[in-house]
Amino acid sequence: MKTVGLVAEIVRLKQQRNAVILAHSYQRPEIQDVADFVGDSLALARAAQQTQCDVIVFCGVHFMAETACILNPTRTVLLPDMEASCSLETACPVQELASFLEANKEKNYYVIAYINCSIGVKALADVIVTSGNAQQIVAAAPPGRPILFVPDENLGAWTSQKTGREMTLWHGACHVHQLFTRDQILKVKAQYPDAQVVCHPECREVVRLMADYICSTEKMISYCRESAVQRFIIVTETGILHRLRKLVPGKEFIPVILESCGCAECEYMKLNTLEKLRNSLRDMSPVVSLPEDLRLRALKPLERMLEISR
Ligand code: 13P
Ligand code: SF4
Repeated sequence: MKTVGLVAEIVRLKQQRNAVILAHSYQRPEIQDVADFVGDSLALARAAQQTQCDVIVFCGVHFMAETACILNPTRTVLLPDMEASCSLETACPVQELASFLEANKEKNYYVIAYINCSIGVKALADVIVTSGNAQQIVAAAPPGRPILFVPDENLGAWTSQKTGREMTLWHGACHVHQLFTRDQILKVKAQYPDAQVVCHPECREVVRLMADYICSTEKMISYCRESAVQRFIIVTETGILHRLRKLVPGKEFIPVILESCGCAECEYMKLNTLEKLRNSLRDMSPVVSLPEDLRLRALKPLERMLEISR
């Protein structure tokens, strides 16, 4: 079926089901365009918590849909493709974290978990962060208590530098952001010397050192809009370029082409398609469901995060 027909069917089914479509900024452009709300992990968590609709169709990856379900358990949460995982989630298996905490009991770690993790890891955490609020949450951690930051060592290192809070870092990284290199950015910079480099904190330190500004996907939009600069080299997953071009017209956004694989695309984020979105609304499946005791344990650190970053 042609895109126009699919979109019309999605809109019709959405009304019939009283559903809201939430999409992350890395989703395919056609999914962003049909969504009711597009944002970063923090904005999506807030939108999921506040919606009055009966159904949330989450166009993102599994941990994001799971978070929507933790925050709003009375709604039906659909994820068009259940295989939409995240390499950061995989980098921190709950059993490994539980064993680490058991083996280091005497340290009494304050556990800060990046939202890109499983519900089991969230349930073991004291507080959750997103890339949009990590500095604020880490700065608010109880003084004098050692901090364990999981699972992203790059976001952890950047946040530690920014806040001055020492943290033990879990060795995890995003396989997409890990691919950016200093040389590739230097090459693009040589082509566009007037452009500013804007980079996601999931990038490695050698790459972050090249950046004029480091921020979450959402802040990239306000930063580029408000800046006097006309051109930006965007160092993150390329899905954000669609939003930047739409919301900040008249400025130029340049992706970094990776020698190894071309454009930096998260294959998990790209699993959702218009067809799968239509099917999930039509069949009311696949549904994200969670054991209630685990949900309640994961809810506490999420609510703490939302409270601190209100
Ligand atoms: P944001 O917190 O900017 O939405 O990023 C989430 C993510 O998965 C980045 O790879
Ligand atoms: Fe996870 Fe990386 Fe994909 Fe973001 S880009 S969802 S961190 S694998």
